[in-house]
Amino acid sequence: MRTHAFGKTPFIVSDIGFGAWQIGGSWGDVSEADGRAALNAALDAGITFVDTADVYGDGRSEKIIADVLKSRGGTRPMVATKAGRRLNPHVAEGYTRANLESFVDRSLTNLGVDSLDLVQLHCPPTEVFYRPETFEALDGLQQSGKIKGYGVSVEKVEEALKAIEFPGVVSIQIIYNLFRQRPADLFFQEARRRNIAVIARVPLASGLLSGKITGDTHFASDDHRQFNRNGEAFDVGETFAGVPFEVGLQAVEEIRTLLPEGTAMAAFALRWILMSEAVTVVIPGARNAAQAQGNAAASDLASLSAEVMAAARDVYTRLIAPHVHQRW
Ligand SMILES: NC(=O)c1ccc[n+]([C@@H]2O[C@H](COP(=O)([O-])OP(=O)(O)OC[C@H]3O[C@@H](n4cnc5c(N)ncnc54)[C@H](OP(=O)(O)O)[C@@H]3O)[C@@H](O)[C@H]2O)c1
Repeated sequence: MRTHAFGKTPFIVSDIGFGAWQIGGSWGDVSEADGRAALNAALDAGITFVDTADVYGDGRSEKIIADVLKSRGGTRPMVATKAGRRLNPHVAEGYTRANLESFVDRSLTNLGVDSLDLVQLHCPPTEVFYRPETFEALDGLQQSGKIKGYGVSVEKVEEALKAIEFPGVVSIQIIYNLFRQRPADLFFQEARRRNIAVIARVPLASGLLSGKITGDTHFASDDHRQFNRNGEAFDVGETFAGVPFEVGLQAVEEIRTLLPEGTAMAAFALRWILMSEAVTVVIPGARNAAQAQGNAAASDLASLSAEVMAAARDVYTRLIAPHVHQRW
């Protein structure tokens, strides 16, 4: 497992992390036993970065993480959580010191710690990026010791570029995968210049890039791949990376022809992300131990050739970019 410094912070993290949305909710039925097994498998494989949020299963994800880490003992991974989505309505005016502090206090309890390693604003409305008082509130929480650092999870490249103008921001979480290539154009250069940690989320385009989904795949009614396919509950870009389902399936078949022999498509998709030096950690979600193990193994795959990288870019340019490039 390869590791990187987490931007300006003292943390060192594995380049493959663990996305803990699946062990919270919104992915159909994932039992607590499977959730624990997935996280344990990831940690056993050397993963030292876990991404969660206060709203994943309304705290279920954070509580499972706390339990697993307590029962394992020993060195803790860096645990990043998020705040903001408990606001109802979810509006910029809600991103106040008082509200953020109450969300942080709840995450401290759920995670069973005195100080959060990292709290990320959870895809706030664009207006928040123009409210310095929100970032001052986070500075205040850091000074109080309740958080060790803060970052922002964003929808759009432009939001990422705006967020890193605030000097206290140490990390940006953004969708970056074979179906979302625009962050590499300008944002990655800026992030590297400022030593901002980059967390690449939705790396498998919600599972499409595992290559196992077909037109006949059934998703449960409480799986966002069923209930958010048109953005009914949250930004449509979080489901299949915003790529129309049939287009995604077609592109997956072209990508399948690029796989080196013996390489699983999920691992290939993760290795493709790690070809970007600006990426600090990729956070695939896993619903069981086997998926977590398969994902961790991507860290040790050989570099992809220039030919394969060019062919992957070509698939993106022809099939995917018209649907996503100008949107996020
Ligand atoms: N707004 C935000 O800040 C935000 C939004 C989205 C995600 N995230 C974070 O990013 C993480 C990752 O994104 P994501 O979970 O949305 O999507 P993802 O990582 O692109 O896809 C996860 C899905 O891919 C499939 N999968 C995973 N590993 C596999 C393997 N080795 N082999 C075959 N299939 C595999 C599973 O599908 P099946 O369930 O069908 O088996 C799994 O549920 C989340 O867990 C969360 O921590 C943050």
